[in-house]
Amino acid sequence: MVYHESVLLHESVDLLGVAPGGIYVDATFGGGGHSRLILEKMGDNGRLFAFDQDEDAKRNTAQQVFSANPGFVFVSSNFRYLKRQLRAEGIRPGKVQGILADLGVSSYQLDTAERGFSYRFDAELDMRMNRLEGETAADLLNTRNAEELQRIFSELGEVRNAKTLAHAVVREREKLPFRSTGDLVELCSKNLMGERMRYLSQVFQALRMEVNDELGALEDFMKDALEMLAPGGRLAMITFHSLEDRMVKNFMKTGNVQGEVDQDFYGNISRPWTLITKKPIEPSQKETSQNPRARSSKLRVAQKIN
Ligand SMILES: C[S@@+](CC[C@H](N)C(=O)[O-])C[C@H]1O[C@@H](n2cnc3c(N)ncnc32)[C@H](O)[C@@H]1O
Repeated sequence: MVYHESVLLHESVDLLGVAPGGIYVDATFGGGGHSRLILEKMGDNGRLFAFDQDEDAKRNTAQQVFSANPGFVFVSSNFRYLKRQLRAEGIRPGKVQGILADLGVSSYQLDTAERGFSYRFDAELDMRMNRLEGETAADLLNTRNAEELQRIFSELGEVRNAKTLAHAVVREREKLPFRSTGDLVELCSKNLMGERMRYLSQVFQALRMEVNDELGALEDFMKDALEMLAPGGRLAMITFHSLEDRMVKNFMKTGNVQGEVDQDFYGNISRPWTLITKKPIEPSQKETSQNPRARSSKLRVAQKIN
C-alpha cells in the first residue's frame, strides 16, 4: 500500500521558497512527500523539523533520505505544540524560514481498517490520530449529550438532519453502547438524508474532526507559526474542509482566525502577513484525476511582514 500520495506537492513547496541552509518545519509528515522535496531544496546545511502525532507515520523516517540526513529531525507531537517543541530543539521564536502544513488524515490512516476512520470497513470506532491519548469516536458517541452531538454533526459535517441523528444516537446507546464503525453505519443507514456515501462521509468526518480537536489544534498552531517564523518567513497551508480554509484565510488576512481587523488608536490597521496567494490554489484536473483525494484541497501561502 502506498502510504500517501502528496497533494499540491510542487505548488506548496515552490511557494514556501525553500533556500539552502534555512530552518523549515513540515507540520504534517505523513508519508514524507513534502518533507522529501523540502530536504532536496534546502541542501546539506539546512534543518527540517517534521511533526506527526501518529506513531505509524514515524516508520516512514526509516527511509534513507530521512535517516541519513543529519539536518532532519522527526518530532512525535501534535503540531499545536509547535513553539514548545521547537524551543526544546533549541530553535528560538523568529528563527524559522518556512512552515508547511497539509491538514487532515493520510491515505494510510483512511485505508487501515483498525484505525476506524472509514465507513468502508467494520472495525473498532477509534479515529484518534494519536492512539496514545484522548477519547475515541465510540467514547464520544457514548457520552456526549444530544445538543453537543447535534453541534458536531451540523457544524463539522454539515449533516442536514443533525438533530434527528443526534437523538437517534442517544436512543441507540441506551440499548447498546457504540463500539464499531459498523454500529455507526447501521444507525446512519436508518437515518439517511440524501446520497448514502456522502452522508456517511459527512458523519465520519465530523466525528474525526471532533475526536482530534482539529480546529482547536489549527488555531494554536497558526499562532505559534506566526511567532516562530522569521520576518520574511512563509507559511503554506493545505486544507480540505471549508471551516479550516476560512480559519486560514482569516488568519492570513488579520492574524486571528475570527478575521477581526486590529486597529490602533489612530485607525492604522496592523497586518502581520503579506498574501503570496491572493486566491487559494486548487489542484489541476490532472492531479484530481490521478488522485481523487486531492479534490477538495486548497493551498494558501503568506509571508510574515518584516
Ligand atoms: C494529509 S497527511 C500529510 C501527508 C504528507 N504531506 C505527505 O506528503 O505524505 C496528514 C498527516 O498529518 C498528521 N496530523 C494531522 N493533524 C496533526 C496534528 N494536529 N499534529 C500532528 N500531526 C498531525 C496526520 O497524522 C497525518 O499523518
